[in-house]
Amino acid sequence: MSLGKPSSACVVVEDLWYNYADDIVALCGIDLEIPDGAFVAILGQNGSGKTTLVKHFNGLLRSVRGRVSVFGQDTRSLPVGLLARQVGYVFQNPDYQIFCPTVREEIAFGPSNLGLPADEVRQRTEAAMAYFGLSQYAEAPPAVLGFGLRRKISIASIYTMRPRVFILDEPTVGLDRRLTLDVMHLVQDMHRQGHTILLVTHDVKIAAEFAELTLVLHDGRVLLYDDTRAVFGQVDLLLQSQIEPPQISDLARQMQVLGMPADVLTVQECFDAYQRLRSSRSGTGERP
Ligand SMILES: Nc1ncnc2c1ncn2[C@@H]1O[C@H](COP(=O)(O)OP(=O)(O)O)[C@@H](O)[C@H]1O
Ligand SMILES: [Mg+2]
Repeated sequence: MSLGKPSSACVVVEDLWYNYADDIVALCGIDLEIPDGAFVAILGQNGSGKTTLVKHFNGLLRSVRGRVSVFGQDTRSLPVGLLARQVGYVFQNPDYQIFCPTVREEIAFGPSNLGLPADEVRQRTEAAMAYFGLSQYAEAPPAVLGFGLRRKISIASIYTMRPRVFILDEPTVGLDRRLTLDVMHLVQDMHRQGHTILLVTHDVKIAAEFAELTLVLHDGRVLLYDDTRAVFGQVDLLLQSQIEPPQISDLARQMQVLGMPADVLTVQECFDAYQRLRSSRSGTGERP
């Protein structure tokens, strides 16, 4: 799918199919383009194919039928090491990813495995630990740290490889609201640094607040792929996939008769629209 925007694509998927077994069809003819530098949320029910799709972007899965290109090159012809420099994948469960005895070694593993000089590895590791607030745990075994810290370690250990595209598979599952926002603000900052962000999530509030584009998968097919605001406007289609837009969007739609815009995405937008409504009505002496 082309979004009709004049931007180069970092990932292009053409007619991608994937079966785990004859009777487990995970992807059924996916076509899409991810613009370089975008922030894309990937939504869909459990089993809709999100993880299977994104694992094709960094070579954890190779296309058997159809084609996946990363920065113009077919992933089938790219060695894993080269792909890892371009596309980093943060696993859904940090404990599947973390295996070194200390936080420092874990975070140093990626760049060291890429064959970077020791000085460069050291400098990237210290910078990543500071950026993710992990410096004080440098010598600690990751296993004794809390889930929120293990999640940050899993992201930091990919961050040190400086991939242009970052895939985060459900990075906020198991985190409370404070830690969720903590992680999301780091991800937002990584996006501002120029990384493309592909965020697999179940949290519609997170998608609405942070993603420019939203992709919705349903039974291994693309149900919707558009600007996030346009996607959340497709209430009936979303319900096919049991996805409800954020509650605040629903509230705003119900307040349309009072002059509220129909396409509100966040609490802040609702508040701003309400303030505008109040000030426009106070001029007329009406109560909003
Ligand atoms: N390793 C696997 N072996 C067999 N079937 C799998 C495997 N991983 C995923 N599947 C199946 O493939 C489909 C898509 O799964 P997945 O990509 O994990 O979806 P999501 O990430 O959206 O939950 C589901 O039917 C799932 O049960
Ligand atoms: Mg998944």
